[in-house]
Amino acid sequence: MIEFGKILNWTMTDNVLSVEFEKNNMTISVLTDEIINVFVPLWAKEHYSKAVEESDLERVLRKGRSANAVFNSEKSCIELSTAKIKAVICDGGYVDFYDLSGKEISKAYRGERVSRRTIGIFDMELLAAEGHDTTGLLNIQRPVEDVRVVDSDEPIYGLGDKSGFLNKRSYEYENWNTDDPSAHTEQFRSLYKSIPFAICKKPEYAYGLFYDNTFHSYFDLAKENASYMAYSADDGNLDLYFIGGGNIPAVVGNYTLLTGRAPLPQLWTLGYHQCRWGYSNAKDITEVAEKFRELDIPCESVQYDIDYMDGYRVFTWNEKDYGPAGELFEKLRLKGFKPVVIIDPGTKREEGYFMYEEGTKNGYFFRNADDTEDYVNAVWPGDSNYPDFGRKAVRDWWGEHVNSLTDMGVMGIWNDMNEPASFKGPLPEDVIGYDEDRKTTHRELHNVYGHYMSKATYDAMKAHIGKRPLVITRACYSGSQKYTAVWTGDNQSLWSHLQMMIPQLCSLGMCGFPIAGVDIGGFGGDTTPELLCRWIEAAAFSTFFRNHSANGCIRQEPWQFGTEVVDIYRKFVKLHYRFLPYIYDLMHEEQENGLPVMRPLVMHYEDDPVARDLNDEYLVGEKILVAPVVNQGERVRKVYLPEGTWYSLWTGEKHEGRRYFLEEAPLDHMPVYIKAGSVIPVYEEMQYVGEKPLDKLTLITAPGGGSFVHYQDGGEDLSYLEGNYNLYRFSVDENKDLTAELLNEAKTVPQYEKIRVVSI
Ligand code: GLC
Repeated sequence: MIEFGKILNWTMTDNVLSVEFEKNNMTISVLTDEIINVFVPLWAKEHYSKAVEESDLERVLRKGRSANAVFNSEKSCIELSTAKIKAVICDGGYVDFYDLSGKEISKAYRGERVSRRTIGIFDMELLAAEGHDTTGLLNIQRPVEDVRVVDSDEPIYGLGDKSGFLNKRSYEYENWNTDDPSAHTEQFRSLYKSIPFAICKKPEYAYGLFYDNTFHSYFDLAKENASYMAYSADDGNLDLYFIGGGNIPAVVGNYTLLTGRAPLPQLWTLGYHQCRWGYSNAKDITEVAEKFRELDIPCESVQYDIDYMDGYRVFTWNEKDYGPAGELFEKLRLKGFKPVVIIDPGTKREEGYFMYEEGTKNGYFFRNADDTEDYVNAVWPGDSNYPDFGRKAVRDWWGEHVNSLTDMGVMGIWNDMNEPASFKGPLPEDVIGYDEDRKTTHRELHNVYGHYMSKATYDAMKAHIGKRPLVITRACYSGSQKYTAVWTGDNQSLWSHLQMMIPQLCSLGMCGFPIAGVDIGGFGGDTTPELLCRWIEAAAFSTFFRNHSANGCIRQEPWQFGTEVVDIYRKFVKLHYRFLPYIYDLMHEEQENGLPVMRPLVMHYEDDPVARDLNDEYLVGEKILVAPVVNQGERVRKVYLPEGTWYSLWTGEKHEGRRYFLEEAPLDHMPVYIKAGSVIPVYEEMQYVGEKPLDKLTLITAPGGGSFVHYQDGGEDLSYLEGNYNLYRFSVDENKDLTAELLNEAKTVPQYEKIRVVSI
C-alpha cells in the first residue's frame, strides 16, 4: 500500500498537475481528453516506459488536450477536467474518474482489502517447503498498489495471452513472462507475455486501466473481494494510464494510440504456414512442402525449427542435414515457399563460436550480480549466455546477424525462448543488464526481454530488406505489437486448448495484437483427426495461421489422418485464402482505429448480456461471425447471433439476431454468418500469395445494400507509407448494382482488371 497523507500543495502547468502529499508526490498528466496518466515515482523519477515510446507520446500529445484544475475546498480534492473526463484527486492519494455528467467511472477503493479466503488448516510454511506456490493464499502487501472499485457484475477483459476465458473477472493473474510447458489451464496465473492492461465494462461506460510497469506485477480481478480489483507490483512506479472512450472499440483505439499499432504486414505472412519441431533435414522439409502442392492445400512456408541450426547454435546452419541454405531456399522458392526460421536468444558458450566470441569480447551478455562474469544458464545448446537486448549496441549487433540471415534469403524470423527460458532454474532477479546506458537488473528487464529482442529483429529487418518485416515472438510486453506478431506458445492437443484459443486470441486483439495465432492441432501431445479438423476450422480467420507440433508427438500434417481430414483441411485453408483481402482490409483499418481482425462479440455488442461472456464465437471485423464447433463429438452447434439480420455464408439462410438456434454441423462444416448490408471482398483460389496476379476481385454481398472501403497495395514493400496504394469505396444497392469510387490512386499498383459482385 502506498502512503500519501493529505494534499499539501499543487500546481498545474500546461497539461500536468503536480500534487505534493504529506508522504508522496503524484503527477497527473492529461495526454488527450480521454487518456490521463497518474504517476507516483516510488522507484524512479522517470517513466522508463518500454510500451510508450517517445514517438508514440508525441503522436498522442499532438491530438490536442485542454485541461483545467480547481481545488474543491469543501471536499478537499483537486478536480481536473478535460473535455470528456473529470479526475478527482483526494487526500490519501485517491484518484477517481467521472464522466462530465458526474457519473462515476472508476473510483479508488478506500477500505481495507478483505480476502474471501480462509487460511484455516493450511500451514503456509509447510506448503512452501513442499514447493507449493503459496503467494496467492494471503493478502501480500506489495510496495506498488492500486485498488479500484468495480460494480458487482462489471466484466473485466484484456491482459493479453492469459489463459482461461474472455471475462477475467474473479480470476487472478501475474505478469512475469513464463515458459511453462505443462498444460495451460484456466488457473494459470502467468504465461509468456506481460500485458498489464485491463478493460472494464460498466453498463454505460467502458474504460481501460494500463499499469505501465515492467516489474513482476499482479492483478486480482475481484477474486479476493467482489467489490474491487487490485493491481500490485514488487517494485517500480505506479504508472497508471486511465483510458476512457466509453465503448470498447474506443478504449482499444486509445490504448493503441498510446502504445502503438501493429504495422501493416506483407500479404503472404497472413497466409497458411506449416511447422514441426522435428523436420530434421532438407528432404523432410521439401517433401512436406511438395505434399501441400500435390494435395492442393495452400501454404506459404514450411518453417525451420531449431533442427536447422548447427548444434542449436543461433545464427548457424546445419549444412550436413539441410545442404547449402541457398540451394534449399531457392528450390522451395520456385514453388512459392518462403523461408521462416526460428531464433533463440540463448547463445552457446563455446570457444571459437563466433556469436560467443563476439558477445564476450564486446561485453554484450547479461552479467552475474557481482558483475565479475557473464551470467550462465542453459537452453537447447547447453550452457548459454543471454544477450543484453536493452542496449542499442547489443540490438544492433544482433540485427547484423539477422541481416546475414535475410541476405541468405530468410523472409521471416520467429523469436522463441525469450521470456527468457532457462533450463537450470529461473534467472536470478539480480542478474545485471542495461536499459540503454542505465545499469539495472533482470528484475526490471525480465518482462521486456522478448520485447527488446523483437525490436532488435524488426529494426534490423526493416532497414535492411526494405520490406515489411515478419517477426513472430513468444514473449513480449505491452507495445511490442509495433515490432512483432505473436503466437501463444506451447499449447497441447487438447479440446480445452482449442476452446481457449478463441478468448486468448480475442484478448490479445483487445490488447493491441492484431496478428496472433496458436499452434493449430496443438503443439504438445497427440492430436486426433477430429480435433485437427475442428481446429483448422476454428482458426480459419486467425491472422497467424500455422499448424505446429512438437518432436516426439505424432506428425500433424493433415495427410497423416486420411482423405476425409485432407478434404476438410483443404476446404478451410482455402476459405482463409478466399477472405484474405477482407483480413488485409481489416489490417489496413487497424492502422487507423487500432482494432484487431478477430474480435469478441462484446466488442461490438457491449450491451448484449450474452455477448459479454461468450467464449466460443468470434467476429471477423464487424461483418463476419464465426461459430466453430469446439467440442468433441458435437455435430449440432448452438449458435448465438447478436442484434441484426445475418445470413449463412454457406446457404444464404436468413437469421434474425438476439437469439440462439441450432445449426447442423457435421465434421466438414463450420457455421459462418455475414451481416445484412455487408460487402466483402474475396479472392479467387490460389496456392500461395504470389502464384498469380491478384487482378480480380469478387464482392460478396448480403441483402440490404451497403458499402465497404477496400485497400490494395503491392503487398510487400513500404511504399504504401508514401501513398502508393489504391483505396476504393464499393457501394452496392438493393439491386446489387455496384458503384466503385477511387479514394486514393497508387503510383505503381495496378487497379483490378475485373470486379464481380455475387450475392450470398
Ligand atoms: C519451444 C517453442 C516451440 C518450439 C520448440 C523447439 O517449445 O515454443 O514452438 O518448437 O521450443 O524450438
